[in-house]
Amino acid sequence: MTSKTSVITIDGPAGVGKTTLARRLAETLDISYLDTGAMFRTLALRLGLEAETMNEDAIANACAQYHFHLKGHGERTQLFVNEQLVGSEIRTEEVGMLASRLARIAPLRKALADMQRKLAETQPLVAEGRDMGTVIFPNARFKFFLDASPEVRALRRMRDAENHDRPTDLAKLTEQIRLRDVQDRTRAIAPLKAADDAICIDTSDKDIDQVLGLMLRHIDASGGSALFR
Ligand code: DC
Repeated sequence: MTSKTSVITIDGPAGVGKTTLARRLAETLDISYLDTGAMFRTLALRLGLEAETMNEDAIANACAQYHFHLKGHGERTQLFVNEQLVGSEIRTEEVGMLASRLARIAPLRKALADMQRKLAETQPLVAEGRDMGTVIFPNARFKFFLDASPEVRALRRMRDAENHDRPTDLAKLTEQIRLRDVQDRTRAIAPLKAADDAICIDTSDKDIDQVLGLMLRHIDASGGSALFR
């Protein structure tokens, strides 16, 4: 039997609350979290759309220029690329869409997959993304898959943007989220889907505290909290 790794995976579509929940769960368990969407967004911003026309070797060489590492724990976990803090510049829906397009490129996924697994070798992690439970950490100790309708997710994103003084058009946001869903769920490599052994949670009518509570109850019931302390 393969041994379980000290990783908790959270997968799900855009805007479902994965990053917030990964951060909160990591804080509760006092471990770090890995926002793999932020890694895809960072490479998307740096490589640009022209990455789509580069050959496999060129992409692999370009990705090899970037090294990610984590500092800190819980809510204070920070992601660095080549010693530079990854900041809010990656957080627009346009960068999300570009990341989703480039996430279909095999050598780019391979480069990030290697780095994601390497990061988990040295520390326990809450890892969130699209393929954490299915492809990157199939032996993760706990796996969660979150979902909610595109309308609910767009509304949450809009409220979040408004709280940051970035007014957003709800109809446009809903359309962008739908498009990203199609791209992420139908791509040939590592498409977004729940692992067979993931706990699936529909978050549509639940707030963050309720979802966090469900996750923690599940982890506690399996004696998991102690494993991460
Ligand atoms: O979670 P996010 O919105 O920050 O992710 C941005 C895009 O990156 C997402 O639409 C698809 C891609 N992605 C991926 O393919 N695999 C991951 N593990 C994480 C993100």
